[in-house]
Amino acid sequence: MKLVDIYYQMKSDVDYVEQELEKAIDTKSYELYQTSTHLLKAGGKRIRPVFVLLGGKWGNYDLSKLKLVAVPLELIHMASLVHDDVIDDADKRRGSETVRAKWDNRVAMYTGDYIFARALSIATELPNPEIHRILSKAIVEMSKGEIEQVRDLHNWQQGLRTYLRRIKRKTALLIAISCQLGAVASDASPELVRRMYRYGYNAGMAFQITDDILDFTATEKQLGKPAGSDLRQGNITLPALYSAMIGPERHRFQTWISRGTLQEHVEEAIELIRHSEGIRFAQSLAQRYLARACEALADLPDNDTKKSLLDIAHFIGNRKF
Ligand code: IPE
Ligand code: IPE
Ligand code: MG
Ligand code: MG
Repeated sequence: MKLVDIYYQMKSDVDYVEQELEKAIDTKSYELYQTSTHLLKAGGKRIRPVFVLLGGKWGNYDLSKLKLVAVPLELIHMASLVHDDVIDDADKRRGSETVRAKWDNRVAMYTGDYIFARALSIATELPNPEIHRILSKAIVEMSKGEIEQVRDLHNWQQGLRTYLRRIKRKTALLIAISCQLGAVASDASPELVRRMYRYGYNAGMAFQITDDILDFTATEKQLGKPAGSDLRQGNITLPALYSAMIGPERHRFQTWISRGTLQEHVEEAIELIRHSEGIRFAQSLAQRYLARACEALADLPDNDTKKSLLDIAHFIGNRKF
């Protein structure tokens, strides 16, 4: 099933959130307006706001409250992308130039900060300090994850555990709290809030693992940026880690690593990984997380919301973008 088909039944609410997103970063400052709307206009899946809305369906669904969580979550995500493209020296995102490429790193820093600040200012319209606390904590964790990514660049000694901790921080927790806070904002039962968190955490782990797979296997058109960027930038993700440490091609990798010549052979390395067991290993780990995500919903009543969440899990396992 395609993502648009899954969103279809919520289309008017998703469209409403989209309009609110545009309003959220509207500003009279001409420069900030240009830089902050640049990424918004380039599109994106909007999967985090959709998770908020789906989380909200388990309680008293009230769009005027849910938007105060859905908009901040997409903004936090967007701000982190603007900063992430600085971290990754990336020139393209969502098929357009990144803020750092179109303007520069300094402009990207404050564009990201501005979007973060707008996210928090909208969230504080909800009189629920628990929600503010959870949002701030997610930003803290994301910062740790992104800093760890810088620290672990070109480090082939990092284990699977280091990789998993990093993707938990940089990606999975934000998706987990999108599901959780939708349920919290609509006063769903604590049991449902916990289940939504568990679903989101596992779906989020799978989401980053599939992002890391696609960086090798997808085309530039599908990705909206050049394939192979992760390894070229020295970001060692699961498929690469597996190929270099465990797969049959590990000897080639070990030679390059021990001689410090991997970057010279990076195109060959990317090609090797693209057709390697590392991809299949990463796919099977993503499937394990997705199975856990679905398990978190197992005892819930069979309704349209549960079906959408299961469909999204399925989409994540098979996604091409
Ligand atoms: C990209 O997220 C960064 C990750 C956490 C993997 P998305 O794949 O949700 O990006 P957009 O919003 O659709 O561009
Ligand atoms: C996710 O990591 C970025 C954040 C959580 C901020 P990536 O670096 O893999 O994201 P893309 O691939 O650039 O979208
Ligand atoms: Mg990146
Ligand atoms: Mg990526």
